Amino acid sequence: MSSSERNRCATCSRSAPILSACWLLLLTMCVSSVALSVSAENHCSEYRYEHSLNTHHLQFTKEIPDREYGVLRQFKSLHCCGKGYRSIEWFKNNKPHPWSKDVSSFIVYPEAANQTIYSPRLEENDIGNYSCILRNETHAIKHEIELRLQDKLDNPMPTFRPKDLVVSVGESARFYCEAFVGNLYLPDATNEIVWNQMFDDHPHNVSDSMQVNVTREEGQIIGSYLSIPNIQTHHYGRYRCQIVSGNSAQKLNLSVLLSPVEVTAITDSQLSVLVYAMVILLLLVLLILIFWTVQQRTNSKKDNRCSAQFIASNEHENV
Ligand SMILES: *[C@@H]1O[C@H](CO)[C@@H](O)[C@H](O)[C@H]1NC(C)=O
Ligand SMILES: *[C@@H]1O[C@H](CO)[C@@H](O)[C@H](O)[C@H]1NC(C)=O
Ligand SMILES: *[C@@H]1O[C@H](CO)[C@@H](O)[C@H](O)[C@H]1NC(C)=O
Ligand SMILES: *[C@@H]1O[C@H](CO)[C@@H](O)[C@H](O)[C@H]1NC(C)=O
Ligand SMILES: *[C@@H]1O[C@H](CO)[C@@H](O)[C@H](O)[C@H]1NC(C)=O
Ligand SMILES: *[C@@H]1O[C@H](CO)[C@@H](O)[C@H](O)[C@H]1NC(C)=O
Repeated sequence: MSSSERNRCATCSRSAPILSACWLLLLTMCVSSVALSVSAENHCSEYRYEHSLNTHHLQFTKEIPDREYGVLRQFKSLHCCGKGYRSIEWFKNNKPHPWSKDVSSFIVYPEAANQTIYSPRLEENDIGNYSCILRNETHAIKHEIELRLQDKLDNPMPTFRPKDLVVSVGESARFYCEAFVGNLYLPDATNEIVWNQMFDDHPHNVSDSMQVNVTREEGQIIGSYLSIPNIQTHHYGRYRCQIVSGNSAQKLNLSVLLSPVEVTAITDSQLSVLVYAMVILLLLVLLILIFWTVQQRTNSKKDNRCSAQFIASNEHENV
């Protein structure tokens, strides 16, 4: 909650007995703004990567979207969840925070250790490219988020596309997918998000796995984690996250690949290098062979000549 909102809440409480309408209205505003702020505060402390929990170096601690959508005149927050940083800076189109009103209405949220910026009321000039830079004494990490406006939404818009993973048997894997689905206009409409493993383009339930659905910004953004704690060979292959918005018939399919670590695997470029090396080696061997045989021949010719001369000179002496 910004200080101006806090003031408004305080003013209203004082004049409450007289202006009950104002009180009610502002109470709702205060409560909803508190609720949104609290969820913004929690966002970075939930569903963090397993490996981030017991390490302390500079890192991002969960999947961060690279595109976000917001609705005009509604609350909107952006996150760069990290740890091990000494400072975190935010930029909009390369201009450092704090921003003047004509650049952006977003402000940092210190309660979330500056990992979150938010606007209580999204304005048109808020759209653009935001970036965060996290630093420790020696290193810096950066993430970019493009913020776009979305008012009338036809189809789910991807905000986080799952990333391919290469994992060994026995290890764990986690995929995440997320999309902006907007406000639901129909009362009985629901959004759906589900993970499947694809066999020959047919969806199957993912065995020995866990799916956790999450929402942000009052259900306008839905996401799902697929966690496989103990990878077995049957887990390798293609997965699909399918998102269905209650407002549209069009399904969004985000697909991803889980592959094994191959010790003997060689890439195309490595292969071509290997072929070149073999060809050069072969040529070298051939050259040495040719050289050697030529040498042998001239040597034997020389030997013949020598022996001939020797015989000749011996004969000479003998004469
Ligand atoms: C800063 O972060 C990097 C990368 O995460 C890490 O290797 C390094 O040890 C950290 N430096 C300090 C002083 O913590
Ligand atoms: C968070 O932002 C505030 C205000 O911009 C600043 O004073 C503070 O140093 C920042 N904290 C970190 C950890 O960057
Ligand atoms: C944000 O960056 C992308 C490319 O990274 C560019 O295409 C787009 O126009 C930028 N948007 C704004 C508002 O600057
Ligand atoms: C996630 O949502 C999908 C449909 O939207 C549902 O089928 C699935 O059971 C949900 N998963 C969990 C863990 O709630
Ligand atoms: C997949 O799981 C759901 C419930 O989680 C079940 O309703 C459905 O029948 C299962 N499908 C298959 C093909 O096993
Ligand atoms: C997603 O896949 C389903 C079938 O699995 C298909 O009906 C739908 O058209 C696909 N969506 C898009 C946008 O291609």
